[in-house]
Amino acid sequence: MNKTVLLEVKDKIGYITINRPEALNALSSQVLKDLNEVLDTVEASQEIQVVIVTGAGEKSFVAGADIKEMDTMTPTEAFEYMTYANDTFSKLANLRQPSIAAINGYALGGGMELALSTDIRLGHEKILLGFPEVTLGIIPGFAGTQRMSRLIGASKAKELILTARNVKADEALSLGIINHLVPVDQLLEEAEKLAKSILKNAPLAVEKAKHVITVGVELPLQHAIRLETEAEALLFSTEDKVEGMRAFVEKRKAVFNKK
Ligand code: CAA
Repeated sequence: MNKTVLLEVKDKIGYITINRPEALNALSSQVLKDLNEVLDTVEASQEIQVVIVTGAGEKSFVAGADIKEMDTMTPTEAFEYMTYANDTFSKLANLRQPSIAAINGYALGGGMELALSTDIRLGHEKILLGFPEVTLGIIPGFAGTQRMSRLIGASKAKELILTARNVKADEALSLGIINHLVPVDQLLEEAEKLAKSILKNAPLAVEKAKHVITVGVELPLQHAIRLETEAEALLFSTEDKVEGMRAFVEKRKAVFNKK
């Protein structure tokens, strides 16, 4: 059987591809399990410094949780399925490395929620985003109610979730759901450009900046600022900080070694 989630590593970028194109990359239990394992590999990798998440095929990023599998689930099984998916998506959100979603088509329900668990989202002109859950008699269950509200505000998130209205690329951009809208044939290239503009910076500083923002936005401001101050002080113990500042003084390009 083909792997439902692929991981390829090239030039410090980890490419995660949800690989179930025959079902528009819907998130079956098997996909979630494979994604969970891939994320463990990424977290432990010393080589991967940025992650790009995308969907296999031309049509779909991810068309949601697997409706055919959910069709026969008991409430207990649904609880386990949602909990496992949320643990997996939180693993992605809290990954040491920054992550970029290259949204290449439908990002519906669980697909939207997967994209919301990455740090930066790019989409092309033909994407379609939304939360169809209430048309199925359920609600977004992979943290969409929470992550979308935190991203665009509760009122706009409520409008999208309660109406189940799909959003095209230009509206997704103006709502701030995607960071950039790019031409269809340049999606991966633009995601790689963005990844490379992160890769040129000090890797430990990048990791700390991500961590402080991800954790800090959930904390009271004074605690979050303290977290930032402690992370900053820790970075003063790194060789890359010495190199970064010395390179500035010597008017040359810094060479970082992740130390
Ligand atoms: N689950 C399971 N199978 C899915 C699927 C999903 N979410 N989305 C698509 N598929 C399957 C279809 O059943 C079909 O399989 P068969 O060929 O075996 O019939 C195959 O993928 C191709 O799909 P379509 O023929 O429907 O393709 P289309 O181009 O006509 O339509 C679409 C595309 C509009 C995305 C349509 O497939 C669709 O509406 N999909 C469901 C989208 C959805 O409701 N997502 C939310 C799921 S609920 C959720 O995610 C809950 C949560 O938060 C936990």
